[in-house]
Amino acid sequence: MTFQLSNIEASSKAEAYDQLAAQARSLLDGERDFIANAANFTSLLYHSLPDVNWVGFYLFKDDQLVLGPFQGQPACVRIALGKGVCGTAAEQRQTIMVDNVHEFPGHIACDSASNSEIVVPLIKNQRLLGVLDLDSPSLARFDDADAEGLNELAEILLSEVSTTTR
Ligand code: SME
Repeated sequence: MTFQLSNIEASSKAEAYDQLAAQARSLLDGERDFIANAANFTSLLYHSLPDVNWVGFYLFKDDQLVLGPFQGQPACVRIALGKGVCGTAAEQRQTIMVDNVHEFPGHIACDSASNSEIVVPLIKNQRLLGVLDLDSPSLARFDDADAEGLNELAEILLSEVSTTTR
């Protein structure tokens, strides 16, 4: 397989996410292994999105979140449901955006450079599979356009993988 990361040139975040979605479809096409696709997915986002210092997955196993494929600094391995931004998004099954992580009660600091964060839950057939987590060194880096774009990208990943292999 050859895949060339294309530069994203867009006049809006929505347009940039549309281009990223097309790249994600092409990158994941023809492969059903969750870990392989999740790993390439984090690389695509990490290298394409501006102003992010961590992009990765926590996977739901044995009632807790366990670190999965990621790009960025080494991170904490296990997060209980309801703990931190990731555990809260997983428990509530809702996308959570935090403008200033230092003001989020119970925030789990992995990279001291992180100042804002967005976490998107991965749900397939009503089952919680894990979360997609992005950190930024900038305050309030993520907005509704990011939430919408990242949810669409997560859907692409989930549609391309066989969840029984995880
Ligand atoms: N900040 C997260 C922990 C994961 S790291 O950001 C990679 C949290 O509070 O759940």
